[in-house]
Amino acid sequence: MEAPLSALPLLLLLLAAGWRSGVVAAWATSPGGCRLVQSTMDCTGRWLSSVPGNLGGDTEELLLDDNTIRVLGNASLLSYRQLQRLSLTKNRLELIEPGAFLRSQGLRVLSLADNLLSTNYMLTAAALSALPALRTLDLAGNRLTEDMVSVLVWNLSSLESLSVARNIIMRLDSSVFTNLTQLLELNLEKNYIFEIDQAFEGLQRLQRLNIAYNCLPCVVEFGLTQLRVLNVSNNIIEWFLSLESDDLFELEVLDLSHNRLLFFPVLPRQSKLRSLLLKDNEMSFYQRLPNGTSLANVTVQFQLIDGNSTSIMTVNLWDEICHSNLSSLRLLDMSQNQNCLEMFDLSEGDPLAMLTELDLSQNRLEELGADIATVDLSHNQVLSGDLGWLQDLAVTLRVLSLRNTSLSSADVDFSAFNSLVRLDLSGNSLSVFPPNPYNCCTLGWWDALQRAEGLRVPDGRETADLALLYLVLALPTCLTALVAFAVVFLTFKQKLLKMVKSRCGVSSPY
Ligand SMILES: *[C@@H]1O[C@H](CO)[C@@H](O)[C@H](O)[C@H]1NC(C)=O
Ligand SMILES: *[C@@H]1O[C@H](CO)[C@@H](O)[C@H](O)[C@H]1NC(C)=O
Ligand SMILES: *[C@@H]1O[C@H](CO)[C@@H](O)[C@H](O)[C@H]1NC(C)=O
Ligand SMILES: *[C@@H]1O[C@H](CO)[C@@H](O)[C@H](O)[C@H]1NC(C)=O
Ligand SMILES: *[C@@H]1O[C@H](CO)[C@@H](O)[C@H](O)[C@H]1NC(C)=O
Ligand SMILES: *[C@@H]1O[C@H](CO)[C@@H](O)[C@H](O)[C@H]1NC(C)=O
Ligand SMILES: *[C@@H]1O[C@H](CO)[C@@H](O)[C@H](O)[C@H]1NC(C)=O
Ligand SMILES: *[C@@H]1O[C@H](CO)[C@@H](O)[C@H](O)[C@H]1NC(C)=O
Ligand SMILES: *[C@@H]1O[C@H](CO)[C@@H](O)[C@H](O)[C@H]1NC(C)=O
Repeated sequence: MEAPLSALPLLLLLLAAGWRSGVVAAWATSPGGCRLVQSTMDCTGRWLSSVPGNLGGDTEELLLDDNTIRVLGNASLLSYRQLQRLSLTKNRLELIEPGAFLRSQGLRVLSLADNLLSTNYMLTAAALSALPALRTLDLAGNRLTEDMVSVLVWNLSSLESLSVARNIIMRLDSSVFTNLTQLLELNLEKNYIFEIDQAFEGLQRLQRLNIAYNCLPCVVEFGLTQLRVLNVSNNIIEWFLSLESDDLFELEVLDLSHNRLLFFPVLPRQSKLRSLLLKDNEMSFYQRLPNGTSLANVTVQFQLIDGNSTSIMTVNLWDEICHSNLSSLRLLDMSQNQNCLEMFDLSEGDPLAMLTELDLSQNRLEELGADIATVDLSHNQVLSGDLGWLQDLAVTLRVLSLRNTSLSSADVDFSAFNSLVRLDLSGNSLSVFPPNPYNCCTLGWWDALQRAEGLRVPDGRETADLALLYLVLALPTCLTALVAFAVVFLTFKQKLLKMVKSRCGVSSPY
């Protein structure tokens, strides 16, 4: 619209405008232009500038996507009293008149994405509030601010699913979604959200929350116990701290990938976490614990500056991890971290012992001790000599990726890996294929499994004392680095820091 129109589309527009009355009349007498499939009338992409009337009073679903409708007037839907689903995405909708839905009280699903609803949002809000049965509303891509969203959804207490993705929302507080007590799913993806202050506390039934592609700097005091899926990928999150509580969290999927996490997230102590996605962060605290250093000594201090007051929060990372019951975790993706992960040890009895899939690619791994079915170690510098350090895995491992790990043929012997069904050795400089007993001609599935079981059973007792998860092994030097970071920040960027920290203050829980 803002872009200058080239001659051809302009001509088409004029033609469409000129023929409009004719077109509408044609719909009225012969609805063949729209496709009718059972009770769905499909009028997608037909240059319509208004809703065609008399398409059939028993229409339950009306699809008007990709047209040029600007106003949904009081009379637009008069003949569609059975309407349950209406889709008007990709039009030029600026206004829905307050009476537009008065005869469509059964409407349950309304898609208004990619329009211009910021223009007359007050009147549009009044129209929406006349929909007592509305369950699903899509307002994505309408240039809406948080204040506009607040007005638009104010009276929609029956709503179960709301998308306000791709708008210009910047901060959320408890006033925005206050009446949406039935909401199960909320999509806030691709906005500019940098602050959230108790915005979801009233949403007692919320299960799925997507805040991907925003500007959140941290998540502190995460306490949404009923949430099942939290997607905060693609923000600028440096730390994730759950509320210290023994309540059971329903959380099953936590996506923190593509952030700036400095250390492993502090997870709820009791949860149902299945997938923990930490790909592409800057976790650089997990290094080898130097001899003589006790894990119990490793703490991280946060300075929280809120207004004039500064408080210091001390988190004992090891305690927090130990206190988290991660027995349900099946997928852990820690790929692409900050050249940090040098050792990963998982022994029987560990909180992560049930893990079946582990992605550690693109780190700097040198050791791995675990009992896992799928491991991705690509883009690590792992294999200087033999595969001895992988022997713990040999019996159970089914899928192994050693892509681009500087492997040369002399180094590798996979003869002990009896369960292996997929092996990726690409991106190396192998001149000979390494010995591998898994040969489908001579060794069947059953045989492989039988032999694997007979071969070796990991000795739990031996590792019992070490039943520690060498995950959060923060070196004192790293802590120094954090403090230095904070100090540098304090000294030179005080204003910015104040802003950042006040957003993350403990008084502003999520
Ligand atoms: C549309 O209906 C609403 C509510 O009945 C009324 O207030 C408004 O004046 C009507 N608008 C027009 C343009 O008729
Ligand atoms: C919400 O509903 C109340 C009562 O029906 C009405 O007074 C108010 O104007 C509505 N608010 C919006 C934003 O539609
Ligand atoms: C929405 O919330 C406000 C303030 O909490 C309340 O006054 C109003 O009655 C609510 N509206 C509905 C429809 O629940
Ligand atoms: C989180 O959201 C991003 C962006 O939409 C998507 O690519 C990713 O798959 C989502 N994560 C999960 C676990 O669904
Ligand atoms: C750390 O201790 C182990 C034995 O507990 C020893 O083998 C190793 O050499 C020590 N490493 C250093 C750097 O002192
Ligand atoms: C670790 O903490 C204990 C007390 O909890 C203390 O005695 C010991 O000196 C500390 N060690 C280091 C390396 O700071
Ligand atoms: C913060 O400091 C300013 C002046 O420096 C003062 O006016 C204000 O009352 C202080 N606020 C608090 C909450 O202490
Ligand atoms: C961890 O949670 C599981 C259920 O998810 C439970 O069976 C187990 O006893 C818990 N372990 C601890 C140490 O609380
Ligand atoms: C292997 O990794 C190196 C360094 O990370 C990179 O430069 C190279 O392009 C990678 N090669 C392949 C085939 O991915």
